[in-house]
Amino acid sequence: MDLVVVSNRVARAKANEPMTGGLAAALLPVVEKSGAIWVGSSGRVRDNATKDSFAEIESLGAGALALLDLPAAHYGGYYEGFANSALWPALHSRTDLIRVSQDDYQSYREVNAFMARALMRFRKPGTMFWIQDYHFLALGAEMRDLGVRNPLGFFLHTPWPARRVIAGVPHHRELIEAMLAYDLIGFQTDDDCENFATYLRTDLGLEVDAGIVTSRFGTSRIATFPIGIDVDGFSAQAQRAASHPDVSRLRKSLHGERLAIGVDRVDYSKGLVNRISAFDRLFEMQPSLKRSVSLLQIATPSRGGIEAYSNLQDELSKQVTEVNGRHGEVDWTPIRYLSKGFSQTVLAGFYRAAQVGVVTPLHDGMNLVAKEYVAAQNPIDPGVLVLSKFAGAANELDTALLVNPHDIDGMARTIATALSMPAPERRMRWEAMMAKLRAGTIHSWFADFIDALENARSTAGPVLPSATVRPLRAVGARLYN
Ligand code: F6P
Repeated sequence: MDLVVVSNRVARAKANEPMTGGLAAALLPVVEKSGAIWVGSSGRVRDNATKDSFAEIESLGAGALALLDLPAAHYGGYYEGFANSALWPALHSRTDLIRVSQDDYQSYREVNAFMARALMRFRKPGTMFWIQDYHFLALGAEMRDLGVRNPLGFFLHTPWPARRVIAGVPHHRELIEAMLAYDLIGFQTDDDCENFATYLRTDLGLEVDAGIVTSRFGTSRIATFPIGIDVDGFSAQAQRAASHPDVSRLRKSLHGERLAIGVDRVDYSKGLVNRISAFDRLFEMQPSLKRSVSLLQIATPSRGGIEAYSNLQDELSKQVTEVNGRHGEVDWTPIRYLSKGFSQTVLAGFYRAAQVGVVTPLHDGMNLVAKEYVAAQNPIDPGVLVLSKFAGAANELDTALLVNPHDIDGMARTIATALSMPAPERRMRWEAMMAKLRAGTIHSWFADFIDALENARSTAGPVLPSATVRPLRAVGARLYN
């Protein structure tokens, strides 16, 4: 089977490099093992980028990594513009943060079309293409426009919101129609899948029957594929990481104090302000916990060119300073706040050193930090996961302590419960979560999606010949008005 995986951000194979985001970290082991070609952005732009502007093609385990320079004129409008200032806020139900221009939409479509042309280099008769995430909603349709009949799959790593929320994205209708060029469209949770089906039925007037929908492109299947992690690999990494100098330094710095850990990109969907407020409240409600626990919050800067993100960075720095000023002592800092990324190895060691994992997003597709925290624990003395019920992971990790991230007092009380939980209960909850993680790893996620993509193609009718498909450019002309 020839497989080409496409995502905006890719991961490099170096375990010691900081990694940004769940998607890149999750895909790395499966690409390495499967022999797929992974195509993504090189992170560089060029004035004269062409479909052949591959900065590098290098091997990655049994597979390969092909990094493409993107066109300078459109990169900003595509990445910071339409993808992250229109789609991302809407997908996380923050339509109040949508800021987008017509030019941004045009750039998004241009980059999708550019990527489609670049992918032609990897097309052979049996090749399957698996496109990842909201950066490339229209990529499949662009490929069909170029005459591609190969199986095309798509997986969304974020939530998919209610129909009235996605309707806040300019051109939502054309984009969602374009998504139906994919043979298989995968979501993280049943709720996301159902929201998408409702949109298709209500706004596009299409019939969706047992996950099958027929559009002008032919037949597509929509289904849920909750993403997992490499459980055994991560667990082994966490054990090995105990001897890593950064992990030893962390342990030494604790002097018997207990540690709670949060690891997030600085993003308004992650609930960071509420989390810091919950620790503030915890120290107010239970002053006896001062000096006996602190929060290590790793907050990796992200998308800093977007106002909502730079504002959040400023707000968090101010808030942490205030909370530390209020509760801290000359020799104790309640919130250890680090604005930088760490490698997977070091993070695995940090998770194992922490008695509480706090993963409290306001809304999250899955949240793999929650799964990694669990996998990293010592089976004899596992820590406790405090998890937002609005993370996709809460569907599986239902023996975590589930919280409402809008309820600050409730979160503070739950963190206190986590800190005083007896070992037998911690073990019981942890074992139940590990069983869930083992039942759905990154490897089974990958295999299930590929199987379903093969089946979607064999059960679906043929894709319409491209002459009968309304070309996207014609749609685009209307959109760009
Ligand atoms: O869909 C979510 C996602 O792809 C995550 O995997 C990751 O957390 C994030 O987006 C990466 O964002 P960016 O590439 O903009 O840093």
